[in-house]
Amino acid sequence: MSLNSHMTRLSLPLLLALSIPQVMAAATVDVTEKSFRCLQEMTPVRGFFVDSLNGNLDATLAVAKSTSGGVYPPGSVVQLVPTEVMVKREPGFSPVTRDWEFFELDVDANGSKIRKRGFMEVNNRFKKNCFACHAAAKPEWDMICEDSHGCEKLPIPQHVITALQKTDPRCKVSDASTFQKFTSWMVRKLSPN
Ligand code: HEC
Repeated sequence: MSLNSHMTRLSLPLLLALSIPQVMAAATVDVTEKSFRCLQEMTPVRGFFVDSLNGNLDATLAVAKSTSGGVYPPGSVVQLVPTEVMVKREPGFSPVTRDWEFFELDVDANGSKIRKRGFMEVNNRFKKNCFACHAAAKPEWDMICEDSHGCEKLPIPQHVITALQKTDPRCKVSDASTFQKFTSWMVRKLSPN
């Protein structure tokens, strides 16, 4: 038998064996405080921002921009305001939350600190449960609420959300107006610590 046919016979199982650890590594989603960044450095989609921890932003954007919904790929990061984040974990990691992990952050010019992380049990700083609201989104939206997917509305008006987005303290530059800076300062003053 020639060397060539040996190679052909060996190469498929060999390739498969070599690729298993890579596939497993790609499926793992490591999330630390370094995973989060300034909202303005993320990619805006309508009113919210997305990122990918697995370098697969195109797949995340495809679902985020879809007009019929879809399932976000592992590693997807979604944010509306600087302190609240949803990260899509590995398939099967948390079936009840559809593999979303919820985060409540503290943010300042030095970056992000994880205040709370977890699944069904995570509350925001106003003692409201992330999962309870987000689970109400119609199934095709994969727990993403926006303003029309069936969730209870947020008790804050759009101009306040925009002000919070434009004054993310982690961002090096900001194009926020004086009024937006004032609005955001007021919200921080009035929010529980
Ligand atoms: C009172 C219900 C409620 C609670 C509690 C809540 N959310 Fe939301 N969240 C919403 C709604 C409604 C929106 C969409 C707002 C909009 O776009 O007008 C939203 C938006 C978001 C978004 C942007 C994507 C989307 O779903 O539109 C993320 C990410 C998010 N919330 C994460 C969290 C996290 C993390 C927590 C807990 C720390 C949390 N939320 C708590 C209702 C809630």
